[in-house]
Amino acid sequence: MSSAALPKIAIVGAGLSGLALALALHRNGLTNITIYESRPATLDIGGAIMLSPNALKILDAIGAYSRLQPRSYAFDTLYFRKSDEAITLVDTFEFGSAEKYGYPALRVYRHELIDVLHELIREKDGISIEYGKKFSRVLSETKEQVTWAFADESQASASFLIGADGIHSQVRKYLHPDIEPRFTKGIGVTAAVPTAQLQLPSDFDTPVTLMNSKYGAFVIAKQLRDGSEVLIGKQRRFTEDLNKEGWADMLRNKQWCIDFLREGASEFPPLVANAVSNIPENKINLWPFYVVPKLDSWVSAVGKVVILGDAAHAIPPTAGQGVNQAFEDIYTFAGVMGALQRRSAAQDDADRSSIVLKRWQTGRQQRVDKILELNAMIDKRRLPGQDSITNEKDEFQLGWLYNLDFEQTIADWVA
Ligand SMILES: Cc1cc2nc3c(=O)[nH]c(=O)nc-3n(C[C@H](O)[C@H](O)[C@H](O)COP(=O)(O)OP(=O)(O)OC[C@H]3O[C@@H](n4cnc5c(N)ncnc54)[C@H](O)[C@@H]3O)c2cc1C
Ligand SMILES: *[C@@H]1O[C@H](CO)[C@@H](O)[C@H](O)[C@H]1NC(C)=O
Repeated sequence: MSSAALPKIAIVGAGLSGLALALALHRNGLTNITIYESRPATLDIGGAIMLSPNALKILDAIGAYSRLQPRSYAFDTLYFRKSDEAITLVDTFEFGSAEKYGYPALRVYRHELIDVLHELIREKDGISIEYGKKFSRVLSETKEQVTWAFADESQASASFLIGADGIHSQVRKYLHPDIEPRFTKGIGVTAAVPTAQLQLPSDFDTPVTLMNSKYGAFVIAKQLRDGSEVLIGKQRRFTEDLNKEGWADMLRNKQWCIDFLREGASEFPPLVANAVSNIPENKINLWPFYVVPKLDSWVSAVGKVVILGDAAHAIPPTAGQGVNQAFEDIYTFAGVMGALQRRSAAQDDADRSSIVLKRWQTGRQQRVDKILELNAMIDKRRLPGQDSITNEKDEFQLGWLYNLDFEQTIADWVA
């Protein structure tokens, strides 16, 4: 171990990306970390999330999986069915498999994962979180350090500044002043109800999407460890683009959300009418689907400012990879930073670091591009009228997605 001071790493945003990044950096011996969060606590949006084996392998490595698993509903497959009388199975999509990928898929409340990550952070030395600190702008960046201002006009400096500040990232503005997230004209409204309310047929597996060409897609997904609760959700086109306040108003308008979930219920199988018969208002969420246009860089020219997670690549929810790809970002980034730090006795650190970070970004972008291709393939297969019943030949091959060897990938970039 060298006795030199460890580089200070500042993370903007204590969301899932920021918290997991701190733990992954810590695991790599980088233990001089401050997270700055604009809110009084981590933002908890959107009920439960689905985690696939690629992300679970990472959560395992940072110590979170064993604590998360008992709080989660495990499953392997997503089902897609028609809204006809027989509720005909149209398609399946693998989301996990202990045999093939080492982990099943998990559905878990976001706040449970946030709690686990906070617990782990509290058990470590060298990670602090400052709340109520809203990053405003970068003031200067040299090969040694980056200095920035907060919204309260206080300033701070660090060796690296990492923007994990979500889809409306303020750190991204430093790299790409003109880029704005784009509304995809799709929204989802979700709620949670007791599973018993639906009176599901006995062999009816979830998560299931019931497709209806007129009223969009209705999703049913068991959650809580014992599956005693289901997420219900409807996804459909919505052409009006609102601003932040407009979306917040719509979310506050619980009756609008309930009506949205109920609309066309009689055109779906009866279990949908059961599902929407009684909707508790406190578990309703609204998710307008925004994407971040493809960026040519996630790393500043000097190499001290980096963005990752939703800040770098918010993607449509089709393949369910939003959060999962954020975990891949943070884990590989921390691996690369750790390897660079361990070699830092060598000459030309700054140049070397910027070459390796560029490789990381290119590699990550290629992976995100592949997810976008997968999204497009899934959308195409599920177009109304495309009644192809699942068959073996047709099945998606997903080893590339769930079985990636992250340690090898990191080693290749650092080599
Ligand atoms: C309703 C809803 C449901 C969703 N459901 C799913 C799902 O089921 N599966 C899935 O994969 N994805 C889902 N997503 C997308 C998912 O939430 C994101 O992919 C994920 O949260 C990205 O994590 P992140 O940490 O990068 O960003 P965020 O979770 O957005 O976290 C960013 C953090 O940075 C903080 N911050 C922002 N600006 C600043 C600033 N200037 N200074 C300091 N701090 C700042 C924020 O307060 C926040 O805590 C959903 C999104 C929504 C809105
Ligand atoms: C963390 O970084 C700060 C700022 O560079 C430095 O003063 C401090 O010594 C570092 N702490 C450790 C434990 O290395």
